[in-house]
Amino acid sequence: MSKFLIAPSILSADFARLGQDVEAVLAAGADVVHFDVMDNHYVPNLTIGPMVCQALRNYGITAPIDVHLMVKPVDSLIPMFADAGASIITFHPEASEHVDRTLQLIKDHGCQAGLVLNPATSLSYLEHVMDRLDVILLMSVNPGFGGQSFIPHTLEKLRQVKALINASGRNIRLEVDGGVNVDNIKEIAEAGADMFVAGSAIFNQPDYKGVIDQMRAQLAL
Ligand code: DX5
Ligand code: ZN
Repeated sequence: MSKFLIAPSILSADFARLGQDVEAVLAAGADVVHFDVMDNHYVPNLTIGPMVCQALRNYGITAPIDVHLMVKPVDSLIPMFADAGASIITFHPEASEHVDRTLQLIKDHGCQAGLVLNPATSLSYLEHVMDRLDVILLMSVNPGFGGQSFIPHTLEKLRQVKALINASGRNIRLEVDGGVNVDNIKEIAEAGADMFVAGSAIFNQPDYKGVIDQMRAQLAL
């Protein structure tokens, strides 16, 4: 896999023609499909479940699908998403009674596992599980909606998590989600992120390839 991964959030895609829209964004150069699952309980919004993930696989989408679970409780959805074709499953630790068990459940079902930390969630959640993480996802907005503005103090948190990853000696992806766009992606990468979720910045205009190319150009500077 390349050093930097672009992961469009399909929350901002056209749900009436989701298969074609996902196909188009992958053809435009995206690496990963970011799949936001919201339950109107852990977050105040309601989106899509395993059936839609399976539908994308049935449609012929072969790219990695990065399932971001904003749900509480978490565990019962993990086997369902694994069966539906998820590649990566991340969850918010405060939404699980037993974080270590939930991580193991994801691994046991053959997916890569990660924790998601909200802007105000303590990094201490990482302390005892670094050896089981494939991904750490830092939220740079409060979860629940696309189209919000990047919260600047997240940059310092990114730097801190990057230092923890380096100290661990492990190859853990550092993913950032919320308000990422062409104008701030370089600064976010410099703070340590290597996987970039972007929803509205990509889907809310017609030229997906143009935006993704501009993002990659920023990352190459
Ligand atoms: C927010 C979701 C994000 C969201 C990002 O709760 O987790 O993935 O879709 O959207 P933008 O890039 O528009 O901030
Ligand atoms: Zn997300």
